[in-house]
Amino acid sequence: MNKFVANANIVLNEVAELIDNPPQKIDYQGEIKAGVDLGTANLVLAAVDKDNKPLLALCEPGTVVRDGLVVDYIGALKIVKKMKIKMEAIFNREIKYAATAVPPGTGGRDIDTFKNVVQGAGFTVKNVVDEPSAAATLLGIERGVVVDIGGGTTGISILEDGKVVYTADEATGGTHLNLVIAGGLGISIEKAEKIKRDPDRIDEIFPMVIPVIEKIASIINNHIGKYKAETVYLVGGTSAIDGIEEVLAKKTGLKIVKPSQTLLVTPLGIAINCE
Ligand SMILES: Nc1ncnc2c1ncn2[C@@H]1O[C@H](COP(=O)(O)OP(=O)(O)OP(=O)(O)O)[C@@H](O)[C@H]1O
Ligand SMILES: [Mg+2]
Repeated sequence: MNKFVANANIVLNEVAELIDNPPQKIDYQGEIKAGVDLGTANLVLAAVDKDNKPLLALCEPGTVVRDGLVVDYIGALKIVKKMKIKMEAIFNREIKYAATAVPPGTGGRDIDTFKNVVQGAGFTVKNVVDEPSAAATLLGIERGVVVDIGGGTTGISILEDGKVVYTADEATGGTHLNLVIAGGLGISIEKAEKIKRDPDRIDEIFPMVIPVIEKIASIINNHIGKYKAETVYLVGGTSAIDGIEEVLAKKTGLKIVKPSQTLLVTPLGIAINCE
């Protein structure tokens, strides 16, 4: 594992701890850089200091974004506002600036919608980046394939010299894992979602989800085509499932790097880009 990813892991684990046990009060008077990640399954507000050290992160489930588009503008606004107020109470002061990110390939007016949500919640938007670039910032990478396996989709972005040179988004993600688990066990989708995240049941459910992971591998293979990609960096919540990296390595023949806390890579990268 390269030095940058090892460092990123330390920071990511700190953030996970902050999400699980948010401090009641933080006495910090320096500059706060905030990042808002509007995902299909989760909305995250992360804050770092001027040296990009994590200060706080809040996460709320939400279904306000679908297929890379804000489908519930008012709902999104409410959740971001709620997280802003909560964060400001912990810091005991206003947090003015935030960055946000859009899925790769998002066009002009749709970018404005993401920006308007964050602005409408009371932030001044300093920067709008694309999600894979935000992830690459945190991981300290200039080249390689960022594969973001989220709730509804898998995003594939190829980076060369620090720039995104190719991007694609396909409708396979965590919800498809839920579908096969629910079908296999004859249970509801909601129950399947819980069981999927239970480390004690991973041996039981993993064989069921292998075909979905293999589909994700073939999506990666189809898209990297002519690019001389060697390394895949896994991000997004679904990448957290234990064993996904081995299946992807076998089916793609690529080196798979999986940071700890894959769900938090992009949100934290967004906060770092608040400048
Ligand atoms: N520990 C875990 N094991 C397996 N899956 C997980 C785990 N934690 C979260 N997930 C899954 O990750 C998905 C959400 O990931 P993420 O927050 O990256 O998606 P999103 O950004 O909201 O969606 P998208 O990228 O599709 O727009 C959900 O399907 C959830 O079930
Ligand atoms: Mg996402």
